[in-house]
Amino acid sequence: ATPLVIDTDPGIDDALAILLALASPEVDLRLVTTVHGNVELAQTTDNALRVLHLAGRSDVPVAAGARDSLVYRQPERAGHVHGETGLGGVRLAASPAAPDPRPAVVSLAEVLLAAEAPVTVAAIGPWTNVALLLATYPEAAERIGRLVLMGGSAARGGNVTAAAEFNVWADPEAAQRVLGSGVPTVLVGLDVTLPTVLDDDGIARFAAAGPVGATAAAILQQYVDHARTSYGTSGVVLHDALALTEAIVPGTLGTVRRDVVVDTTLGAGRGQTLVDRRAVSDSPTAVEVAETVDSAAAVEFLVGRIEALARS
Ligand code: BDR
Ligand code: CA
Repeated sequence: ATPLVIDTDPGIDDALAILLALASPEVDLRLVTTVHGNVELAQTTDNALRVLHLAGRSDVPVAAGARDSLVYRQPERAGHVHGETGLGGVRLAASPAAPDPRPAVVSLAEVLLAAEAPVTVAAIGPWTNVALLLATYPEAAERIGRLVLMGGSAARGGNVTAAAEFNVWADPEAAQRVLGSGVPTVLVGLDVTLPTVLDDDGIARFAAAGPVGATAAAILQQYVDHARTSYGTSGVVLHDALALTEAIVPGTLGTVRRDVVVDTTLGAGRGQTLVDRRAVSDSPTAVEVAETVDSAAAVEFLVGRIEALARS
């Protein structure tokens, strides 16, 4: 199995992404690092511990990372999307495990350097921890086999402003640092996540499979309600779980090598990912931008895996 680290801000779709990783034999989840984002760091860290405990995997270490973005304070959290606790209205049981007392980048560097094979890192919150790793432990960052990033948008505009997707908007300077690093990167943005919608039938399938599935469904209910009241749509957009699917099964998404820069100015475009779609790039810092997805297959993959996890 490929060694995997998830860097995350749970977060409803983050919680689902963590469960998906635990349900997938292709990967071996070695560490979860947490970051500011959807809610405050203390809450994302506690949520990560609780989600692992829900799945009976309190043995996976959790290390807390950056409390805020690199340069400017994160403008606002997303409690209105994820519920005030970050996991909808659901109160998961507290974990018996405590977070690693060391900062996330220290634990992350240790895991990267100790791994017997290149490590996949899936970053599904703001990318502050990844930027800090690049700056502080470049030799450890070289051990990243694939960096799968959820964030940005090539052609769909933003979801938090007209221009910006949430994870990039929450720390644009970090995003620029990460996208310019030359680490082998797949960028999973709104172009492929927005069409990938889990409907009520899919949720009902894993809800019926056992207590873990029923709890996952309950957490998702907040997302369902938000989609209905804010966008008039039904179903749940699987941002982070889709990124994890690409991390677990490379090639799930159709990608094209592109040059990407982040708008780090303080104007209306702040946090926009400017994806150069004029040509395929041969630059060493170009990234694989996910442009095509079989959404029905991706949703089926997720539902099947969460069902199996809930049955086990
Ligand atoms: C991203 O923002 C967060 O709210 C989600 O968890 C996801 O990582 C989508 O823009
Ligand atoms: Ca997230």
